Amino acid sequence: MKPVFVLNGPNLNLLGLREPAIYGDATLKDVESRCRDHARALGLSVDFRQSNHEGDLIGWIHEARDKASAIAINAGAYTHTSVGLHDALKAADIPSVELHLSNVHKREAFRHVSLIAPAVNGVICGFGVDSYVLAITALHCLISAAKKG
Ligand code: DQA
Repeated sequence: MKPVFVLNGPNLNLLGLREPAIYGDATLKDVESRCRDHARALGLSVDFRQSNHEGDLIGWIHEARDKASAIAINAGAYTHTSVGLHDALKAADIPSVELHLSNVHKREAFRHVSLIAPAVNGVICGFGVDSYVLAITALHCLISAAKKG
């Protein structure tokens, strides 16, 4: 079974230090462990990555086309700006979920727009680290449904 790619965009390397009132005090390493444990319980594995560079994220989505069973992506600020990520996700042709730790709809107006939402199966936001767990559960449902045909 191919792994689920869990992709993290800019500034998420600073989790635990960055605006803890919004993002909580878990580090990205903590998030990775939660993802690995939850995926294992569902019979999945996780390839967990972070980059501050848009091109890295686009390259990883291209790689996912062949090497991943599904994609969970917290694209951080690129969510609100990146046509490149939108196009890459459209081309990926595997199940994908956009996720955010915070409820972006409760925040500044510029966070209410997602350029990647139309290119993924669904969006999860506002549940802190549990957003990652919920995204992996959602992908598990999509993968199982696709297997049943
Ligand atoms: C975020 C929300 C984005 O608006 C922001 O730019 C981030 C983190 C979240 O997980 O809540 O970097 O994606």
